[in-house]
Amino acid sequence: MKLWIVGARGSIATTLAAGVLAAQRGLAPLEALLTETEAFVGLGLAALPAIDIGGCDLAPGTLAQSAHAALAGVGTFPVAMIDALMPDLERIAITRGVLRGGGAAIDALAGDQRAATASGTAREVVDRLVTDIRAFAQDEPTVVVNLASTEPTPAAALADWDGAALRRAVDDDDPRIPSSCLYALAAIEAGCPHANFTPSAGASLPAIVELARAAGVPLAGRDGKTGETLLKTALAPMFPIRALTVEGWYGTNILGNTDGLVLADPDNKASKITSKKGVLEGILGYAPEGDVRIDYFKPLADHKVAWNFIQFRGWGGHRMRMQFTWEGTDSVLAAPLVLDIARLALLAQRRGESGPIGALGLFFKTPEGSSEMNLYKQYDALLRWTSGRSAAG
Ligand SMILES: NC(=O)c1ccc[n+]([C@@H]2O[C@H](COP(=O)([O-])OP(=O)(O)OC[C@H]3O[C@@H](n4cnc5c(N)ncnc54)[C@H](O)[C@@H]3O)[C@@H](O)[C@H]2O)c1
Repeated sequence: MKLWIVGARGSIATTLAAGVLAAQRGLAPLEALLTETEAFVGLGLAALPAIDIGGCDLAPGTLAQSAHAALAGVGTFPVAMIDALMPDLERIAITRGVLRGGGAAIDALAGDQRAATASGTAREVVDRLVTDIRAFAQDEPTVVVNLASTEPTPAAALADWDGAALRRAVDDDDPRIPSSCLYALAAIEAGCPHANFTPSAGASLPAIVELARAAGVPLAGRDGKTGETLLKTALAPMFPIRALTVEGWYGTNILGNTDGLVLADPDNKASKITSKKGVLEGILGYAPEGDVRIDYFKPLADHKVAWNFIQFRGWGGHRMRMQFTWEGTDSVLAAPLVLDIARLALLAQRRGESGPIGALGLFFKTPEGSSEMNLYKQYDALLRWTSGRSAAG
């Protein structure tokens, strides 16, 4: 299996690459993979750890040039192990990505690469990406995974386009098309499944769904469910099962990685908050009072702390409260999920499925192709799908 990663020099991508390379050298086990558990044996999923990683980022280069910076201060891997992997990281060539519709925060990340990544018309950019993806894939099973920074919400008008209108807009070089949409279009044109681990909406536009279905390409998305939201979707189903009414649910997150820095921009943050907020109503059937906050707190680096406060009502209207604190390391939680999603997206392609694969909703905050938010029901739906029964029934 090959992964062509958008945002290949970022924290999740580098953590994923280092973990895969370490496993290939026998330095560390591949752990925390759902697709390695009993229920998934016998599905003929792509072999581990024989995984090739490539992709693009705002600055081209090799992963060796950014590995220390991306993993600095996190302590996921010992420095000696990263050093031992340097020759392998040196061989992972990252091509130039595309800068469009990322807002001021992503423009700032691009730094001196800004002009180079923003150059070319939309059609030229898609053609270049398709060439890069095909050159990497060499006709082997390949998934395009978006692990790039979160974009602001795209212009509402894009949601009204059908596939033909999107193609016209690409040919007309419409500046409203964000890079997340161009990456998804390139994956479709290259015939590769596309997984969107980010909250960016460009790969979820109805036009992209239509074109993916027409081309027989599976889509998986959106916004990986790794931390606070994972816990929420596990805990929230308890309240209706005891007929307890949730009056309020407030959550606040602090994180110190580059993702957190980009999310400090209100435009980029809005995409993430929308994605995080949808889950409770989907599980409880009503929206409790409350808010979800995200703040950048540099000292935490890639670690995240989320504190949630829940007020609920029971017998006689009596009010009770609970709180939890989640302390997770974002990229460590995300890396295995990316492999699980990619292996299952390739299974979907082998089975001839296309468009949003709802059975993969378990992995996402905003599951596409499914309205189910309850973690346990999502897991059941995935098991039904893998065993060849319909995800819905
Ligand atoms: N870590 C988690 O648990 C988690 C969970 C859900 C979603 N996500 C999302 O996954 C994404 C990646 O997270 P991360 O922590 O690795 O972020 P990161 O900031 O470390 O990495 C993002 C990378 O994308 C690159 N990039 C930005 N715009 C690009 C573009 N247009 N084209 C190509 N490359 C581009 C950046 O240069 C950077 O190297 C974010 O959108 C984040 O919100 C993360």
